[in-house]
Amino acid sequence: ENESTVSITVVGASGDLAKKKIFPALFALYYEDCLPKHFTIYGYARSKMTDAELRNMVSKTLTCRIDKRENCSEKMDQFLKRCFYHSGQYDSEENFSQLDKKLKKQEGGRVSNRLFYLSIPPNIFTEAVKCSSLSASSGNGWTRVIVEKPFGRDSESSAVLTKALKQYLAEDQIFRIDHYLGKELVENLSVLRFANLIFEPLWSRRYIRNVQLIFSEDFGTEGRGGYFDNYGIIRDIMQNHLLQILALFAMETPVSLDAEDIRNEKVKVLRSMRPLRLEDVVVGQYKSHSRGGVTYPSYTDDKTVPKDSLTPTFAAAALFIDNARWDGVPFLMKAGKALHNRGAEIRVQFRHVPGNLYNRNFGTDLDRATNELVIRVQPDEAIFLKINNKVPGLGMRLDRSNLNLHYAARYSKEIPDAYERLLLDAIEGERRLFIRSDELDAAWALFTPVLAELEEKKIIPESYPYGSRGPVGAHYLAARYNVRWGDLDIEQ
Ligand code: BG6
Repeated sequence: ENESTVSITVVGASGDLAKKKIFPALFALYYEDCLPKHFTIYGYARSKMTDAELRNMVSKTLTCRIDKRENCSEKMDQFLKRCFYHSGQYDSEENFSQLDKKLKKQEGGRVSNRLFYLSIPPNIFTEAVKCSSLSASSGNGWTRVIVEKPFGRDSESSAVLTKALKQYLAEDQIFRIDHYLGKELVENLSVLRFANLIFEPLWSRRYIRNVQLIFSEDFGTEGRGGYFDNYGIIRDIMQNHLLQILALFAMETPVSLDAEDIRNEKVKVLRSMRPLRLEDVVVGQYKSHSRGGVTYPSYTDDKTVPKDSLTPTFAAAALFIDNARWDGVPFLMKAGKALHNRGAEIRVQFRHVPGNLYNRNFGTDLDRATNELVIRVQPDEAIFLKINNKVPGLGMRLDRSNLNLHYAARYSKEIPDAYERLLLDAIEGERRLFIRSDELDAAWALFTPVLAELEEKKIIPESYPYGSRGPVGAHYLAARYNVRWGDLDIEQ
């Protein structure tokens, strides 16, 4: 029989990401009938576990969407029957060839396609790639490997990693995940720009005053300090998630929607950017804070974080693209943990209306009266455009109102998790939402010098209380470029 089969091996199956994201996403794809007819899922990790124990562990992570309750538990049982476990070391070719035997048995002589999801710490990355590809690659179908960041911690270590991966894999077998690219509103960015006449003509220095990319979380690094302390917020969020959004936002029109065409444009715009300078960065670290009888910890209260750690948990930065479209337009990024709210958004502030007839009809704050487009990636997905509008009545008073596309109100469908989209794409061989190696190099080139300087000069991060709006330095940085950070919380 010439039918093909897909085997998905989650390497690091008992880890956090596997439980929180990978297994639930695979189940959601199964529920939606998006997985191929013949598929098998293998959990691979060091601990001893039986298939039944793995199924039990996975079953606790699965949920049914609100709009998909029908037959859900039946579907779960069917899904779990396709899940198996293999215990092995990450650096053992022998253990991977045992897996290979088991996979072959499941594949039953069909064309075998194999997807490995490496959800393991970076220090064992290369070994796992080596062992899985030498001992458990498909003999007659494709073999693909999904890898998660960190992809090194600067240009040099990233290049070493890429080189190591390429000893065992071709570029088109490597699927580097940036899960922000799988988010609905990030995917929609290109639609918004290129399928609407009203936006693209305004998309340049001529009409746009500044662009803000904001990421905020209302919890700290509790429990992840060990990983986080070696990276910090610039590597954890800015160099990847926010920069990817920036690239999609600012790139030129791609020749087509093909993966290579899109990624070519992203690389081009990244390479047009100026490496970030120290004076354009503000770093912060959260400190303990008590509120309502609850004491929230400092970053350095984490047992796995050195007491004298200078690792930033907050950063703000001003970036520039030196090309014809964006010359002089500040792209401001802000990312922080343990802040007062959770959210991610893109804010586009437009220029002032020239010779505005209505200047005197605004209340006090003229600067607030420019148009602004807000793309709220999460939570509560929305796109809205702030316009100036006449307050109804006999007088002539203007205010700012929103043209509002609120996803929950407009679309009744629940939005799939980013990992569902990305896993499906990897299975289908669609590379559009994965990071190509030249793209990764270009991204590191922008941040590596400033990261080195922060470490060499031992720059002390500004402290900010847990649950606050972050260090005040971020406002001074923005003010230097005549920017005022937008804030969803304090606006209607
Ligand atoms: C990860 C970071 O890449 O993204 C985490 O390592 C962060 O620190 C997470 O919490 C945020 O993802 P999301 O999808 O919850 O916004």
